[in-house]
Amino acid sequence: MRIEKAKRLEQIPPYLFAEIDKKKEEMRQRGMDIIDLGIGDPDLPTPRLIIERLKKAVENPKNHRYPSYEGMIKFRTAVAQWYEKRFGVKLDPRTEVLSLIGSKEGIAHIPLAFVNPGDYVLVPSPGYPVYRVSTIFAGGIPYFLPLLKENGFLPNLSKIPVEIAEKAKLLFINYPNNPTSAIAGKPFFEEVVAFAHRYQIVVCHDAAYSEIAFDGYQPLSFLQVEGAKEVGIEFHSLSKTFNMTGWRIGFAVGHSEIISGLGRVKTNIDSGLFQAIQEAGTEALYHFDTPLPEIIEIYERRRDMMVRGLQEIGLEVDRPKATFYLWIQIPGGYTSAQFATLLIEQAGIVATPGNGFGEAGEGYIRMALTVDEKRLKEAIERLKKINF
Ligand SMILES: Cc1ncc(COP(=O)(O)O)c(C=O)c1O
Repeated sequence: MRIEKAKRLEQIPPYLFAEIDKKKEEMRQRGMDIIDLGIGDPDLPTPRLIIERLKKAVENPKNHRYPSYEGMIKFRTAVAQWYEKRFGVKLDPRTEVLSLIGSKEGIAHIPLAFVNPGDYVLVPSPGYPVYRVSTIFAGGIPYFLPLLKENGFLPNLSKIPVEIAEKAKLLFINYPNNPTSAIAGKPFFEEVVAFAHRYQIVVCHDAAYSEIAFDGYQPLSFLQVEGAKEVGIEFHSLSKTFNMTGWRIGFAVGHSEIISGLGRVKTNIDSGLFQAIQEAGTEALYHFDTPLPEIIEIYERRRDMMVRGLQEIGLEVDRPKATFYLWIQIPGGYTSAQFATLLIEQAGIVATPGNGFGEAGEGYIRMALTVDEKRLKEAIERLKKINF
């Protein structure tokens, strides 16, 4: 039998990291020692207290059954108290908080609740690839908002043609930003709220990196801005905040109708988040003050070392205030893909080509600070030997 895949699969490029993984494997097979700065997956362990809580929770047979769809009220209450403590924003845990099997899961499902075939979705470029793919899966049309250096990597909403804005159902934004590591202040979020009101667009702010910030900086929640809860929701994740990427735990908060729309999609697709993991997440949210200083100090040291090293080599890179990514301008004469290939072939360094995050990412590569200082030093030494 000939297996024919659905057209929607042909519409999406291969998942960015799948391509890089292939190249990495090829070089590894040739005996190359690979320094992987490709995927933003923390190398540090989950704090011990969270692990111990999970161990206990796993023993409880009550946690072996199907969890509730929307998340345990205990976990949602922990989210609400964390939100108030961290951002000064009050949430109703029953209607304004939803557990997610990682924030990626929520981002992948949200267009199914609000986007009809042919509707536009406003998607940042460069941006986390799931915004574009989830739009396509729902039959929507991504309209890309270029994030340019001269605008501080914020989208220029006034450049969106009125006829597109009128047909747009959803706007994705993400600060602190992956891949550019840019941050957003209150004026930008206020502009987003006004824009969303004007065109009746649901705002999805992806705050997966809200707790990875440096030099004392504390990123804002979109919901801190007046009127934000009337137009949108915010996605959060425990993945980066507590080094829990493998655990799959996140949440969405905000407008109760938007939360319930996403919840309705989820009840038809998944059966909730393993309760033992929710109990461990509850412990994390009550116990720790975030950003967690012990994690932040490590990334700060890595950032400073790597930025200095890259600048000495002559590469242009800003010292980020948040996220564990470096967004590096590539030297003239190369495309992003060519430069990434050069790095892996000549130095065994995996970096992500910027165009993989969208066309406007061309001219950049992204490096993740998710390996230790010794390896980063080694990476700099190897880079010094390349003639570019
Ligand atoms: C911008 C952004 N949003 C969301 C996610 C998904 O995180 P998770 O599904 O682990 O919560 C990631 C992961 O890298 C990300 O970079």
